[in-house]
Amino acid sequence: RKSSRAKEKKQRRLEERAAMAAVCAKVEAANKLRDPLEAFPVFKKYDRNGLNVSIECCRVSGLEPSTLDWAFELTKANMQALYEQSEWGWKEREKREELRDERAWYLLAREPGAGPVAFSHFRFDVECGDEVLYCYEVQLESRVRRRGLGKFLLQILQLVANSTQMKKVMLTVFKHNPGALHFFREALQFEVDATSPSAAGCCGDDSCYEILSRSTRFGEPHPGGGPCAGCCH
Ligand SMILES: CC(C)(COP(=O)(O)OP(=O)(O)OC[C@H]1O[C@@H](n2cnc3c(N)ncnc32)[C@H](O)[C@@H]1OP(=O)(O)O)[C@@H](O)C(=O)NCCC(=O)NCCS
Repeated sequence: RKSSRAKEKKQRRLEERAAMAAVCAKVEAANKLRDPLEAFPVFKKYDRNGLNVSIECCRVSGLEPSTLDWAFELTKANMQALYEQSEWGWKEREKREELRDERAWYLLAREPGAGPVAFSHFRFDVECGDEVLYCYEVQLESRVRRRGLGKFLLQILQLVANSTQMKKVMLTVFKHNPGALHFFREALQFEVDATSPSAAGCCGDDSCYEILSRSTRFGEPHPGGGPCAGCCH
């Protein structure tokens, strides 16, 4: 009896290892793509509400240094005050490093003649055992907001997540950024992820942020599953 229990345990371990290898293989395959938007040319431009922009998707290595500088300055202009109101504070060097990390992917919206006007920094990654597309940033110049471009960029992320078989699109949003919360929760139907401090339950929730997610067709109908064992304690 003991030995049959040991066998079951070993079998379970092997299955878990195989499942994790499959998750990592999906993330690796996604990271090997040249252009995740190649099969979706209609998403390479946005011509609505008086905006006419082209959209490209590339790895950080495909960006000009000047474009990365612009992305940093826009993030700083949009987010510095919000970071300063949080326990995280605004850490300039860390944010620069995050934006130029070799795992970073970018969606970039450019206005012909006027240069970039919006971007999203995202990564294919494993979060609590699931393959996910994690949206690190979505940042628009103020003059191009409220014309549907942000929603379009998030729809592209959802499309890319689906086409690479990720389980969900995830992101972190400050609770004291009500416009962004409304954008994600109401306009885009993101849900509070089970790994969000407010959902995890066990640690109380005095945190300044919420983790939101939206399932792809490869994920759970209600994203997140159980709380992540690694997040608390
Ligand atoms: C948040 C952000 C990405 C939204 O992009 P956007 O292109 O302006 O949003 P959209 O035009 O696609 O908005 C779609 C819907 O979302 C909601 N929404 C968007 N911005 C909102 C705001 N500031 N307040 C309330 N609702 C908002 C509205 O319902 C809107 O529909 P409507 O314009 O018909 O009312 C953009 O405002 C931005 O870059 N903000 C600064 C940076 C930031 O906070 N990023 C998020 C960090 S987590």
